Amino acid sequence: MLEHIFLLMAFFRGVSSLSKLRSRIVQQSSLNGSVRWLQMQSASDVDLHLQLKELIPEQQERLKKLKSVHGKVHLGNITVDMVIGGMRGMTGLLWETSLLDPDEGIRFRGLSIPECQKVLPAATPGGEPLPEGLLWLLLTGKVPSKEQVDALSKDLRSRAKIPDHVYKAITSLPETAHPMTQFATGVMALQVQSEFQKAYEKGISKSRFWEPTYEDALNLIAQVSVVASFIYRRMYKNGEIIPADDGLDYGANFSHMLGFDSPKMHELMRLYVTIHTDHEGGNVSAHTAHLVGSALSDPYLSFAAALNGLAGPLHGLANQEVLLWIKSVVEQCGENITKEQLKDYVWTTLNSGKVVPGFGHGVLRKTDPRYTCQREFALKHLPDDPLFQLVSKLYEVVPPILTELGKVKNPWPNVDAHSGVLLNHFGLTEARYYTVLFGVSRSMGICSQLIWDRALGFPLERPKSVTMEWLENFCKKAAS
Ligand SMILES: CC(C)(COP(=O)(O)OP(=O)(O)OC[C@H]1O[C@@H](n2cnc3c(N)ncnc32)[C@H](O)[C@@H]1OP(=O)(O)O)[C@@H](O)C(=O)NCCC(=O)NCCS
Repeated sequence: MLEHIFLLMAFFRGVSSLSKLRSRIVQQSSLNGSVRWLQMQSASDVDLHLQLKELIPEQQERLKKLKSVHGKVHLGNITVDMVIGGMRGMTGLLWETSLLDPDEGIRFRGLSIPECQKVLPAATPGGEPLPEGLLWLLLTGKVPSKEQVDALSKDLRSRAKIPDHVYKAITSLPETAHPMTQFATGVMALQVQSEFQKAYEKGISKSRFWEPTYEDALNLIAQVSVVASFIYRRMYKNGEIIPADDGLDYGANFSHMLGFDSPKMHELMRLYVTIHTDHEGGNVSAHTAHLVGSALSDPYLSFAAALNGLAGPLHGLANQEVLLWIKSVVEQCGENITKEQLKDYVWTTLNSGKVVPGFGHGVLRKTDPRYTCQREFALKHLPDDPLFQLVSKLYEVVPPILTELGKVKNPWPNVDAHSGVLLNHFGLTEARYYTVLFGVSRSMGICSQLIWDRALGFPLERPKSVTMEWLENFCKKAAS
């Protein structure tokens, strides 16, 4: 009798997992057709390293074919404007983990942000995606199961040990040093334990470069959130360090170590890390890591270099600048500022030769979907927050003014226009720290691509540069 009951239970379990599997396949097949590798995985398939080991030969073959069959196909013309203008619009990099469309925004391995929110495992039903899930997606091109994400969370937690000398290196800097300087110093100190460097010194074959790169990449991703939290607590909370909680996922644990334990802040951090991970390869931080890595510098060296680019105000530091700018608006005009007053404030900023932080983009030509999903989070969790309402007003006021300037190619808000007010609402008010949060998140995209750079044997990056004289002569000859 008992045996029959067990058999019956096993049958129903089987039917229920089969229908779950069917619904996931249906859900996934309705997504963008460009998701080449999207497929259901068995729950036992939780070894990320093994997954990559299987995928790499396939992708090496693909690249080899691309090169031999299409190597001489032209991708477009290079103009003098492009050379002078920071290589805008010049296709010159291979970056597998994500692709940016000027109108639609970012797609991670073919999936838009709303699609990721739909299919990636969450901590709570219908909640924000777990960043580890996005990391799995970036690395493999496959949507992971919850079991796979949990296994990756566990793996990352086991790698999050920080040698003492890292803390010493950070505390040797004045407490007033910019948090990004402290962060880059911490990452450089972590480099001492690079597996890639050790393996290279021992003479590892280039066919195996990706393996120590993988170890460094996962160690680094695991460690940066601990180092970043240490810097925050050192600077703003009297050095009272909060140890990691082994029961928490990456985003929630990061929030916990910073000192923020409300479930909403945990959700915000999961969303924050997820959307900041990657933005194709040409942006300053991603490109820097790719370039430095192409010299076979290990992931720590490459990522530290990327952080120094992220620390620039036209790139990652813009999130700090936005909140400081918004706070200066409130200081001068109060929270209930009218649209007319706001317009005047924007013109004052522009007339003093500054940019309006949080607006514009090198590639995007529409509102950044990373802005939109943060706005949706705010509408759900903090609709009455006065700074959120100010951000909403800016959305109405700034684009027409930037359009009126006549030279701004994208008058719409970017990711940084929104992130600060959300963090500020939940108590993370120290704007100077914000770019560190961006940096922690970016480690996932940058490190994922670095593994593929080594797996696919990408060469040393070495574009040709020319002088103004060379350009003048070239153009004279072309005209004659
Ligand atoms: C992101 C950014 C650096 C892109 O630069 P870009 O690709 O050169 O942008 P554009 O081609 O539209 O720039 C053309 C002109 O418009 C100006 N412009 C662009 N965005 C502007 C803004 N938000 N406020 C004022 N002026 C802006 C540029 O400074 C440039 O002026 P110039 O010709 O006098 O040098 C730029 O939009 C910017 O500075 N934004 C504010 C900072 C920011 O939010 N950065 C985060 C980006 S995610």
